[in-house]
Amino acid sequence: MSTSRRGFLKGVLGTGAAGAAATALPGCAPDINPAPVTDVTASAAGTVDLLVTRYPELEPVGGAITVRVPGEPVPLLVVHNKGANARDDFSVLSSICTHVACPLGFDGKDVVCPCHLSRFSATNGEVLQRPATVALKTFTAEYNPGTKVLRIDLRAGQSDFPPAVNGQVVFPFLDYPQLRDNGATVSGVPTGYGKRIFVFRLEDGSLSAVDSICTHQQCEVEFRAQDRDLFCPCHASTFTRQGEVTEPPATLPLKKFTVTETSDAVVVNGVL
Ligand code: FES
Ligand code: FES
Repeated sequence: MSTSRRGFLKGVLGTGAAGAAATALPGCAPDINPAPVTDVTASAAGTVDLLVTRYPELEPVGGAITVRVPGEPVPLLVVHNKGANARDDFSVLSSICTHVACPLGFDGKDVVCPCHLSRFSATNGEVLQRPATVALKTFTAEYNPGTKVLRIDLRAGQSDFPPAVNGQVVFPFLDYPQLRDNGATVSGVPTGYGKRIFVFRLEDGSLSAVDSICTHQQCEVEFRAQDRDLFCPCHASTFTRQGEVTEPPATLPLKKFTVTETSDAVVVNGVL
């Protein structure tokens, strides 16, 4: 492995995890251009502003940087794409591979994993080449060509899902009648939180709500209806719908939210 790739893994993950990722690298893997790492603090509103001209590795089309934001579970890969009519276009993706969580690089065209060579679209995160099967998470970002500032919104969510307001997400039974039924699941990304949450009405009638971020290496878990559990595609940890670990390597439970119920709605609290 070249010094630059070793440094890249170290820079993004830290020494221990970099060593683990390095051992996963196939001997003949091509060098992937590392996206230089920079640390940026988010505003109280959860936005990150990047003055593109300040980052020479990002400024040209085909450039990319890795941005670490304190408090965010994974670093962001920011890519400068060629937009329609040669307009500047940027995409922001999770920089951790959904196969087994190696840090990703960029080859000027695609997002590439140096560990087992999965490839992802740099514009929408879709898998272009296995072994990864799960798309990369994307983040909402807007570029102002006048000021040359790229604003990344870490708390953007789905417009068709209830927002988190003061840490509370309200699911009216009018809109979510299934939450009256035992065995129901509702999942989505609340605006104001920016990460997927799951809400369950369990078979005994109790309610549970958990975060989707795996406590092993921060991949996003998915719900398996058949097994009635949450599964992490990165290293196959599993969790109950109440967030408890049932299969390692994760050892810590998922973040749990408190849930209350009124006659009209289910209310999830602590979504901060
Ligand atoms: S970790 Fe295996 S392809 Fe990325
Ligand atoms: S990130 Fe490793 S099991 Fe989830």
